[in-house]
Amino acid sequence: MDARAAMSKPLRSVRVAPPPLAARAAVLLLLLLLSALPLSLTYTYEQDVFAINGLYTALGSPSLPGWVTNGGDPCVENWQGVGCAASNITAITLNGISLGGQLGNTLANFTSIITLELSNNNIGGTIPDNLPVTIQRFFLSGNQLSGSLPSTLSTLTLLTDMSLSSNRLSGDIPDVFSALTGLINLDFSSNNLTGPLPPSMGNLKALTTLHIQDNQISGTLNVLQDLPLKDLNIQNNLFSGPVPPKLFNVPNFQRDGNPFNTSIAPSPLPAAPAPSPSLSPSIGHVPSKEPTKSPDVPNGNSPASGNHTIWTVKFVGYILVGVVSAVVIVLMVMFCVSKHKDRKSKKEIRKSKKDVYPKNKIGREPQRLGEAKIKEVPEMKEHLVKPMNTVEKQLQMWFLIQVRS
Ligand SMILES: *[C@@H]1O[C@H](CO)[C@@H](O)[C@H](O)[C@H]1NC(C)=O
Ligand SMILES: *[C@@H]1O[C@H](CO)[C@@H](O)[C@H](O)[C@H]1NC(C)=O
Ligand SMILES: *[C@@H]1O[C@H](CO)[C@@H](O)[C@H](O)[C@H]1NC(C)=O
Ligand SMILES: *[C@@H]1O[C@H](CO)[C@@H](O)[C@H](O)[C@H]1NC(C)=O
Repeated sequence: MDARAAMSKPLRSVRVAPPPLAARAAVLLLLLLLSALPLSLTYTYEQDVFAINGLYTALGSPSLPGWVTNGGDPCVENWQGVGCAASNITAITLNGISLGGQLGNTLANFTSIITLELSNNNIGGTIPDNLPVTIQRFFLSGNQLSGSLPSTLSTLTLLTDMSLSSNRLSGDIPDVFSALTGLINLDFSSNNLTGPLPPSMGNLKALTTLHIQDNQISGTLNVLQDLPLKDLNIQNNLFSGPVPPKLFNVPNFQRDGNPFNTSIAPSPLPAAPAPSPSLSPSIGHVPSKEPTKSPDVPNGNSPASGNHTIWTVKFVGYILVGVVSAVVIVLMVMFCVSKHKDRKSKKEIRKSKKDVYPKNKIGREPQRLGEAKIKEVPEMKEHLVKPMNTVEKQLQMWFLIQVRS
């Protein structure tokens, strides 16, 4: 009765003061606002609320401030670890807080999620097939996740960083990387993954860090050789076959604990990658392939033997050039020595016979060449006059003839 009285008093005063038309408009506006109220009751986007409710239920409803299994308004009520952009949930970050349970199957209902970090908890079960296609940073390392990697990873085309390390994931790595061209950091380490690296990994054109150590991955590393890797850890796997030479250019490349067939002497290669990589891998490659793949043998063999013949030809050429130049040097030294002797003898001749000079001038005038040749003429004449070592003289003669012609 008191409440009615309290309500009626202001209404009565309103009815008295303004004209009836304005009152009717005010009531209409109130009704419109009331009808709009249910839509604006929850600020957070409805589908995101559905998704986070589902995640919370799957995790086993742990005590997380704000979180509820049904409804709620995460972007208004500041749920622990939840980040929003306006009314959209964009991040859930709950690392190392002993979460259990599973991931559930509502992750794909998040409409705008960019970051999902649930590392170092005890989350079990499998990685769900329903994954949010907007995700960029996906961290689930250090949990108890089992089963295989879902093939729906192929839909996460905005992914930049993903770590699923230190779980119990098994099976082959699926061929899902064709469209993940923005992926920069990928970590599958410390699981039980098997089989070869799938071919689509060759499409990871932005990948700089790849950690796949401590698994049972086998096959070769060829698919990685053209990626922009700066940090590659493949330790403790079952990789075989020769390491592609290009991978020795990866600044941080850890590869111990693999049964690489060819013992390729990997230690000298990273120190000096320039001189040997083109030769040593083919040397290690050819003999290992020869018994198994017969069609590959001529292909693998011909470039190596081609290189060999080229090197042989070059080597012989260098030796020839060396020998010829050595002979020329010896000849020139002999020539100079004899010339020196001649000068000495010339001086002696000058001392005794002073009519040598006019002869020289006569010899010089018709020639009019460089001084070296001018001097040669009298010298030769003197040699003819002077008795000499015959071999030395012949060589000198030959040399002079060569120079003149
Ligand atoms: C959640 O996503 C599934 C598909 O992943 C869809 O079928 C379902 O309708 C979505 N639910 C809501 C409430 O958006
Ligand atoms: C929220 O999500 C919707 C649907 O995904 C999108 O259209 C809108 O741009 C998002 N808003 C913000 C602020 O991210
Ligand atoms: C991998 O599997 C073996 C048995 O198949 C198991 O003993 C080992 O603990 C597993 N490793 C991990 C990291 O789950
Ligand atoms: C490595 O060795 C195994 C057997 O020891 C052989 O089956 C395999 O073909 C070899 N792989 C390469 C790449 O040489």
